[in-house]
Amino acid sequence: MIMSHRCRLPGWESKKMSAEQAASLIKDGMIIGTSGFTRAGEAKEVPLALAERAKKEPLKITLLTGASLGNDVDASLTNAGVLERRMPFQVDRTLRKAINKGEVLFSDIHLSEVVEQARHGHLGHMDIAIIEATAITEDGGIVPTASVGNSASFARLADKVIIEVNDIWPEALEGLHDIYIPEMRPERTPVAVTAADTRIGTPYIQVPPEKIAAIVLTHRPDSPSANVPADADTQHIADHLIAFFKSEVASGRLSNQLLPFQAGIGSMANAVLEGLGAAGFEGLTMYSEVLQDSAIKLLENGTFRFASATSITLGEEVGKRFWPNVEQYKDRILLRPQEISNLPEIIRRIGIIGINTALEFDIYGNVNSTHVCGTNMMNGIGGSGDFARNAHLSIFISKSLAKNGDISSIVPFVSHVDHCEHDVDILVTEHGLADLRGRAPRERALIIIENCADPLYRPALLDYFERACERGGHTPHLLEEALSWHQAVVESGSMRHLTESSSPA
Ligand code: COA
Repeated sequence: MIMSHRCRLPGWESKKMSAEQAASLIKDGMIIGTSGFTRAGEAKEVPLALAERAKKEPLKITLLTGASLGNDVDASLTNAGVLERRMPFQVDRTLRKAINKGEVLFSDIHLSEVVEQARHGHLGHMDIAIIEATAITEDGGIVPTASVGNSASFARLADKVIIEVNDIWPEALEGLHDIYIPEMRPERTPVAVTAADTRIGTPYIQVPPEKIAAIVLTHRPDSPSANVPADADTQHIADHLIAFFKSEVASGRLSNQLLPFQAGIGSMANAVLEGLGAAGFEGLTMYSEVLQDSAIKLLENGTFRFASATSITLGEEVGKRFWPNVEQYKDRILLRPQEISNLPEIIRRIGIIGINTALEFDIYGNVNSTHVCGTNMMNGIGGSGDFARNAHLSIFISKSLAKNGDISSIVPFVSHVDHCEHDVDILVTEHGLADLRGRAPRERALIIIENCADPLYRPALLDYFERACERGGHTPHLLEEALSWHQAVVESGSMRHLTESSSPA
């Protein structure tokens, strides 16, 4: 294989080795940082070789990434018992199970803060960074692939860097990225991004060539996105949002250009964003963490003029038409480090419309994005907190029911709080939209129950709220009952019987 156009660092062949040889550089107890964000652009072969090695020679590491990994990397490492600690995000069923059994210690960190904490020494000293690359430049610069994530700072912080040069990626990816690392505190200057299309960095990650310990040549694609398609509920959620945005424009609170969009991960955010394409808005921008299929479709149909993110995660169909033609998108898309795509300073400055997904929310507007029944980790908070707290409009969406109606996603009190009521402006389900701006808790409860809860659960929620109001308080609660809805799920798998005593005659 002729790789000289991808590996342009003079003498690179002397660092070339197999994935197994590179994995042997990793020792028991090390802290390792890898590329990879929302199953995009992860280091693949070296971690998988490490998992193979660990079957014969037990070893444990702490693994930091951008976010979730594809190609079953997390599952393979978990099954091989390699992961002692994992941070800051994952979406893997095998790893999730191990986390919930307490076998892997998981730190769930706001995605913008990971390298901030790492560079100030809060997460220990990083031994090795493993980064997937499209190319290595003449002076050792790493051109990332489908994500930037934390790779730039990991490369700077680690003692050694292993580079996986993956020739599955089009060379045209070079120039798509904008790499910028803020200065250490207290010398930090403002991060000068003032719009989605502002470039402030370099198109590659700068690494001193002497730190490059291994170059591994690979040929393996990312895993396609596992999102399920839009359905009637997600279409209704999109319709409620479109009506809301149009009324904001009509009332003069937003211009026809709206404000830059952020949309969360997962099937629901993807489907709802795609639904916005039918609203007739044009020339909008996106300043987000991840671009899923919907973002590419909205770029294709002109709804979006420009999209900035830290990763691109696509399904098979959209991926097939996007990646071979990535050159055509290079003046309309850019990928930044996740601490910049998710930086509160920028989110506040440019005024983001943030749309994230809740597992559940309560009658006062607190949101749980991470913990099923308050105990079992789903994926992690990801970047939702970076955006929710700092957005111009912080919107959370959810279907009103989960598990075929056995669970109401609107509950008296969330079983875990990721986004507190103070950070949440708008809640939307398939039934309607609750505009909470400027509302007191007692007003919020009535709007949320009336507009968002499924009719099956509305009477029971109202009954709880009214009885709580009799006791008084700014945010009325019946503490002994507040988590009884979750208790019902733990005991019987369903909240349905709670609807029986309070059903309307
Ligand atoms: N109680 C229990 N389980 C629930 C639930 C509830 N109230 N609501 C949903 N679920 C379950 C679903 O049944 C589904 O289970 P399954 O995997 O066994 O089928 C699972 O949660 C995922 O729900 P789904 O409807 O498929 O939603 P999604 O793919 O849109 O993901 C989140 C939703 C909340 C899990 C996802 O958005 C997430 O991880 N968010 C946190 C991180 C984040 O917001 N990042 C974005 C920042 S840019």
